[in-house]
Amino acid sequence: MMIIVTNPPARLSGEVAMPGDKSISHRAAIMGALAHGTTEVHGFLRGEDCLATVRCLKALGVELHFVRDKLIIRGRGKHLTPPGEAPLLDAGNSGTTARLLMGLLAGQRFGAVLTGDSSLKRRPMERVAAPLRLMGACIEGDGSRLPLRIKGGELKPIHYKMPVASAQVKTALLLAGLFAAGETVIEEPAPSRNHTELMLAQFGAAVCVEGSRISIRGEAELKGCTVKVPGDISAAAFFLAAGCIVPGAEIWLRDVGVNPSRAGIIDLLKEMGADIQVQNRRMWGREAVADLLVKGGAPLRGVAVGGEIIPNIIDEIPALAVVAALAQGETVIGDAGELRVKESDRIAALAGELGKMGARIEELPDGLRIKGGSPLCGAVVESHGDHRIAMALAVAGLAAKGDTAVRHASVINISFPGFMETLRRLTL
Ligand code: S3P
Repeated sequence: MMIIVTNPPARLSGEVAMPGDKSISHRAAIMGALAHGTTEVHGFLRGEDCLATVRCLKALGVELHFVRDKLIIRGRGKHLTPPGEAPLLDAGNSGTTARLLMGLLAGQRFGAVLTGDSSLKRRPMERVAAPLRLMGACIEGDGSRLPLRIKGGELKPIHYKMPVASAQVKTALLLAGLFAAGETVIEEPAPSRNHTELMLAQFGAAVCVEGSRISIRGEAELKGCTVKVPGDISAAAFFLAAGCIVPGAEIWLRDVGVNPSRAGIIDLLKEMGADIQVQNRRMWGREAVADLLVKGGAPLRGVAVGGEIIPNIIDEIPALAVVAALAQGETVIGDAGELRVKESDRIAALAGELGKMGARIEELPDGLRIKGGSPLCGAVVESHGDHRIAMALAVAGLAAKGDTAVRHASVINISFPGFMETLRRLTL
């Protein structure tokens, strides 16, 4: 599928609802599966990544079904069933599915093979496999990539200092910690999204957070509950970016998750000069939610970003790069080498594709240098099979002279089914 975005849009205003948060949706499905009793997940994201998690859990004997926007899960307790004759669990394009399921499978008494699509098979899994092996799981495969065979069993608790700040690794280890007798302790090198810690507590797990140290006791059982999933700030980031770069734009984004470990993009765009208001802040369970209003036309300037904030904004960097290309002055993004092992090498993809549109953007080993302010022109650009690259390029197209065609854009369904319809509706 190719999508075409035309500049200038007739208008860009209105009110839009964001799809459910991807990270929270995965976690709710998995914890609901491991809990006793029924879990209802309101606003579950029906994107391809989260549906891959649902399919894998079904293959492990969990009963899950949708009733309108609600996912109902009949929890199995901690012990799931082997995935039948061909024990192959397919995570598709989803790193979160693969890594979180590695943690869950490490605690099961059977073996299963986890695989994924060609992009996921290139992504590093050793960061999860190594600590799980220390806990006693048997993980076999060709090197550290998928497919991997995971045979769980009796796990022992560990005290583990994570070398990379990764919420996926942290979550996999906390899930495995549910199966270890005693206390598993994890230390993070920098804060990453904390949805797992919040949700584990909601499900009744014995989880404790003290600064960068997170511990979990394995004895506790999870109890099914109701989870209300906030709108995804990582999806909202594309509309915040669009609102910033289109003069006269005025977009309301309702019920967006603004958990402080995820909402760094709002402050960063404001620092660049964007006119963004955060209103009606409230809590949905343990997660903060707000309505966001973005208005276009404010002068934008470049920014330097690196260090501890990077895990907070890691998925928003494609949207940020587009805003930076249109801001006055230089933006330097550093300490973001993780971008090279996402659904695509996002550093190379952004430099290459935004470069085709006339942006002055240079690859750094761990980030990007963007000299903003030169006009963008429409071009034929490539998604690199990466949903966030496709959406970033479509947003860039709103501010580029002429038509922009984004090739292989159906990958947007990974995290944001209905993205183009939502964008189009604002232009009518
Ligand atoms: C995620 C964590 C981040 C993020 C990914 C979702 C999660 O990855 O980029 O899109 O749900 O835990 P890492 O944990 O690899 O940093």
